[in-house]
Amino acid sequence: MKIISVVNQKGGCGKTITSINLAAALSRKKSNVLLIDLDPQGHATSALGNKSGISITALLEKTINDQPLPEKDITVKLNENLHIIPSSIGLAATEHLLNNNKNKLQALSILINKINKIHNFDNIIIDCPPNLGLLTINALVVSTYALSPLQLCNFSLNGVEMLKNILIMVREFKGSAPTPLYIFNQIDLRSRFSREFAMRTGRILGSSLLKTSIRKNIHLREAASYGKDIFTHKPASNGAQDFQALADEISKLTMGKTWTQFSIKAKHNDEVYLVGDFNNWQKNEQYKLMKLGEDIWTITLPLSKGVYRYKFLSGNEWFTDPHNKVIENDSYGGKNSLLTVQ
Ligand SMILES: Nc1ncnc2c1ncn2[C@@H]1O[C@H](COP(=O)(O)OP(=O)(O)O)[C@@H](O)[C@H]1O
Ligand SMILES: [Mg+2]
Repeated sequence: MKIISVVNQKGGCGKTITSINLAAALSRKKSNVLLIDLDPQGHATSALGNKSGISITALLEKTINDQPLPEKDITVKLNENLHIIPSSIGLAATEHLLNNNKNKLQALSILINKINKIHNFDNIIIDCPPNLGLLTINALVVSTYALSPLQLCNFSLNGVEMLKNILIMVREFKGSAPTPLYIFNQIDLRSRFSREFAMRTGRILGSSLLKTSIRKNIHLREAASYGKDIFTHKPASNGAQDFQALADEISKLTMGKTWTQFSIKAKHNDEVYLVGDFNNWQKNEQYKLMKLGEDIWTITLPLSKGVYRYKFLSGNEWFTDPHNKVIENDSYGGKNSLLTVQ
């Protein structure tokens, strides 16, 4: 499972347009996609239409209060491969509730973990609010990528620096942080000023700047106002082409890798690490598990094809994986878990 937060603390730079149409483009590639509208303004929700009573607000509040999720109707199914969890205006108040909660930073991680046990999504796209507050931080804590649309008119390196600092904070909290990715939106490469700007910015952002840019395209705005994605509204438009190219580029980033989740249920007060062939059996901050709820620890890794031996390490104690029945004797008289990624 790959989770992409679409973030930028500025409003109007294209987060919602990117979230909706990237989700739609990925779903056309036969992957099972969930779009979460995490902005209290609910623009993605109104852009794709919401007539249900389902909302991220209610689900987050259940998570905060340690209540079980409803048995069905957690997401709204837009088509075979695309689901949405709508936002609602009450989400701003939920952000305040988070502030006093023990799972302040990982409530969304706990929720997504539960949802994915039911639906098994390949991709989750999170449309974030225009600030770097607790909702956005919750999104970054659970994400694999932080995708930031940049617009020439309101671009400032300040914004890039602020996102970097938040990512450092996320890394300190859980041992790893999402990979930042930047994309130009509404840039007009026919103008010399735009081309020079793009070159200068490209030098600063390096390989985190995606090759795809999203051109200004009136059909993108129109589609959102009709409650549609661009592929349903105008499949032959520049907007549709650009978002298909973005989905292709993002899919290629992890091609050949399988996102594999490891988890262990244990009452450890210490930190828990995954140690094995992935990291030459060295305890490493990047492989520290995140505590989800009372006693569940988890980490998701992109793994290439192959056979991996591993164990969990907490304090001085070693544990095999309780969810993996394939166990092998190691050369020290102990046991290892064995995982084959096809
Ligand atoms: N590439 C684009 N071409 C045309 N209109 C765009 C494009 N990107 C964004 N817009 C329009 O600009 C406005 C702001 O975009 P939006 O995605 O809502 O930004 P944000 O979510 O960051 O606040 C919306 O009206 C949207 O339709
Ligand atoms: Mg928005």
